[in-house]
Parts: sequence; C-alpha cells; structure tokens
Amino acid sequence: MIREARESDLDDIFEIEVGTIDPWTFGILEADFKNESTNYFVYEVDNKVVGYISLLNLASEIHINNIAVDIDYRNKGIATSLVEYGIEYFKDKDILGYTLEVREDNYPAIKVYEKSGFKAVGIRKNYYSNNKSAIIMWKYIGE
Ligand SMILES: CC(C)(COP(=O)(O)OP(=O)(O)OC[C@H]1O[C@@H](n2cnc3c(N)ncnc32)[C@H](O)[C@@H]1OP(=O)(O)O)[C@@H](O)C(=O)NCCC(=O)NCCS
Repeated sequence: MIREARESDLDDIFEIEVGTIDPWTFGILEADFKNESTNYFVYEVDNKVVGYISLLNLASEIHINNIAVDIDYRNKGIATSLVEYGIEYFKDKDILGYTLEVREDNYPAIKVYEKSGFKAVGIRKNYYSNNKSAIIMWKYIGE
C-alpha cells in the first residue's frame, strides 16, 4: 500500500536511506521532508515502511529527488509502483513533466525509470563521487 508519509515515518525512511550509496543525513532528510515544495510517499508491507519516494514540485516540473527500497524488498516492483504513483499524483497539474538525475552505473534505478517511460536526455559529468556522471532523464506529459 502506498500512502503520503508522515513525520513519524522519518526514522523508518532514514533506516532505508542508510542502506543506499551516499545516503542523506537525518538532518537533510528532515529538512527536505519539511520543505513545502516536497511530497513524500511510503510503501508499506504489513504496516512496515519498506520504501519511499520524494518529489520536489518546481512549478512546471516535478523532480524525483530520491527513491529507495529496503534491501530485503528489492526487485519486487516496489520502486516502480512508487514512481507510477508519483506520476499519477501530479498528472493533472499544469506541468511539463517529470525529471531526475541518476548515477550512470545505477542500473536498477535506470531500469525503474525506463519502465515508467523516462528517457535519457543528457549527462552531468562527474556529478557524483568517484567521477561518476549523472544521467538526466525526463518524462514529458503526454509521452
Ligand atoms: C533503485 C531501487 C529504488 C529499485 O527498487 P526496486 O523496488 O528493487 O525496483 P523494482 O523492483 O521496481 O525494479 C527493479 C528493476 O531493476 C532490475 N535490476 C535489478 N538489478 C539490476 C542490474 N544490476 N542491472 C539491470 N537491471 C537490474 C530488476 O530486474 C527490475 O526490473 P524488472 O522488473 O524488469 O525485472 C533500489 O535498488 C534501491 O533502493 N537502491 C538504492 C537507492 C537508489 O539507488 N535510489 C535511486 C536514486 S536515483
């Protein structure tokens, strides 16, 4: 089940976040959660938060800021469901589309975005640690 996140979910979200490469600190996560322009959604299995997505609403474009799934629950379609939910949530707003940056070697994430209709449109060189580049992806409304 997917629902809007509450502040009381932040500990669970942070626990998932620390299982990722380059995790956010709790402080950054909390500040982002409290930003009025972000929306957080969580995926629950048996009342346990096992995944989350954060989206930043920049008026005409929605940025997927972060998405992560508990390592024990990966490859079950949970991230894909969260992305689709985020797309659906904003689809009737007056937006150009959805965008994100993904590390060039993050194959599972790239797969998730491609499955949801995102296309690579550019590169930001050396955007991440270890000289890894970011792939910029977009999904325009109507595509
Ligand atoms: C990226 C992430 C959110 C995906 O979550 P998930 O719930 O496992 O994703 P899904 O199950 O919806 O889809 C994963 C897809 O990647 C595929 N995949 C998994 N490992 C892969 C690999 N090494 N190479 C290519 N594809 C891979 C899976 O087969 C699946 O595709 P399929 O449904 O066509 O079989 C999860 O791996 C994660 O939390 N990673 C750490 C955080 C992160 O990197 N976030 C992205 C920031 S941009």
